[in-house]
Amino acid sequence: MKNLLNKKILFIICGGISAYKSLETIRLFKKNGAEIKTILTSSAKEFVTPLSITSLSQGKVYSNLFSVENETEMDHISLSRWADLIVIAPATANTISKLAQGTTDDLASTVVLASDKEIILAPAMNVRMWEHPSTKINLRKLKEFGYKVIGPEIGDMACGEYGEGKMSDPLIIAKEIDKYFLDQKNNKRYKALVTAGPTNEYIDPVRFITNKSSGKQGYELAKSLYRKGFDTTLISGPTNLEITKDINLIKVETANEMLVATQENLPVDVAIFSAAVADFKINKRYENKIKKQENIDLKFERNLDILNYVSNHNSMRPKLVIGFAAETDEINKNAEEKLNKKNCDWIISNDVSNKNIGFNSDYNEVTIHYKNKKIKREKLPYKKKSGISDEIVDRIIYQLN
Ligand code: PMT
Repeated sequence: MKNLLNKKILFIICGGISAYKSLETIRLFKKNGAEIKTILTSSAKEFVTPLSITSLSQGKVYSNLFSVENETEMDHISLSRWADLIVIAPATANTISKLAQGTTDDLASTVVLASDKEIILAPAMNVRMWEHPSTKINLRKLKEFGYKVIGPEIGDMACGEYGEGKMSDPLIIAKEIDKYFLDQKNNKRYKALVTAGPTNEYIDPVRFITNKSSGKQGYELAKSLYRKGFDTTLISGPTNLEITKDINLIKVETANEMLVATQENLPVDVAIFSAAVADFKINKRYENKIKKQENIDLKFERNLDILNYVSNHNSMRPKLVIGFAAETDEINKNAEEKLNKKNCDWIISNDVSNKNIGFNSDYNEVTIHYKNKKIKREKLPYKKKSGISDEIVDRIIYQLN
């Protein structure tokens, strides 16, 4: 397990009988060179002691959200920023439920909500709790948020019952985490560029033509690429969104600025064009604010197609060029026409006639149209844009590797 060396793991232990297994997991992390800080929930302290964890991890154990000592030394925000990865093992039904609802009533849940890092959890609970619809819904939500889940396994339980719900063995957990860092290292070689949001095309200094794009889909793609180890540049039209400083964010307003920023940031390995770029700009922008008048005569001219420019670039065409298609009708036909016309490798279509998805929604439902694959298209189910983005990025990684 060479990939754990010097990795900073924030290890959260929740209160369940399998908390005792976390001692062995911490031992494996330490043995392979990882640096560990641990958070114990208050019920975890019923099963393992801070002293035993400090002895094994040689790192500090945190448990109190309102501890003056902890807050001065490392507050809950710094704790989440410190980590390369957050691992929650065992993750109990209660913690899974709190994270799915965004509840922040203790240090563990607050740190996780405040985190911009990848989160991997290893659930452990009684088989009936595991099979309960509320646990299933909560876990589905967490997966949509981009959390990874290891296990649980089927077997005899501490309560005497048999079934699914046993936490995976420490060795399996450690190997999965090692593989996570290996994938990250492999992807780190890769550079990604994403365009997002609308563009503004000015008529005069204070008036412009724009569209309903919020940038959410593109920002989620950039976050997912970054979390999975890509060196990521996000070229964004005007939005109200924020993003981690670790992503190279370039803010632009017009389609022309977006084109120039894209040109300046080539070459990359993968480029994803999720921006809703205006097809037209005003032929001659008025220098001064237009005075009230009966009528104005506006003439338009075509903006250059950024996607088309990149996918036909002689020397700097990325290995993978992915466009988006916002369609209202004949979605597959139109998307596949764009796939060919714009010479990209994949087009991701979304039906923007459906008010619950596409523009300005937190959710989307997309179909990936492939150019050179046996399967022509693949539909991803209705999900949060974060979850859709993770699925897209997993396919990108597979393709690049
Ligand atoms: O931003 P959100 O609110 O989250 O909404 C997401 C979205 C609906 C905007 C997104 O999922 C999406 O569909 N983006 C593409 C929208 C679009 O303008 O599609 P299009 O069919 O007009 O363009 C096709 C492709 O060419 C797109 O990849 C677009 O970025 C690109 N293009 C278009 C024109 C142009 N001048 N340059 C381009 O690069």
